[in-house]
Amino acid sequence: MAVLPIVTLGHPVLRTKARPVEKVTKRVQKLIRDMAETMYQAKGVGLAAPQVNVAERVIVVDVGQGLVALVNPEIVKAEGAIRDVEGCLSIPGRSGYVTRAARVVAKGLDAEGRPIKVEAQGYFARAIQHEIDHLDGILFIDRLE
Ligand code: NI
Repeated sequence: MAVLPIVTLGHPVLRTKARPVEKVTKRVQKLIRDMAETMYQAKGVGLAAPQVNVAERVIVVDVGQGLVALVNPEIVKAEGAIRDVEGCLSIPGRSGYVTRAARVVAKGLDAEGRPIKVEAQGYFARAIQHEIDHLDGILFIDRLE
């Protein structure tokens, strides 16, 4: 595994719409492992591939309930609304209130390329929404209240 450099605000990849992964290959699996290592080393709770300068639809999240990796993630259900404080490893030193859905169901592929569905609430749901935003070039500062 390798810790990758995290790009910060101003880097164009953060504003790029990431492309879908066609197949979960060994390269994608290595990317997922490296992203997890990078997230843990930075003490983050989530990371999206564009943050390590890879414009592909891959996210990792761990809010203390174990690592969840999603390839081509999509939110298929969202309920409720919660306002809470958010930050981003690509925007060091900034945080602010963002309203997000309280509960989401996300689907995608796991690190083995198998379809999975993840049900999340609270900060887990928030992290998934934040990371999927990254894949569309959206940053939490765009949603600040
Ligand atoms: Ni972020």
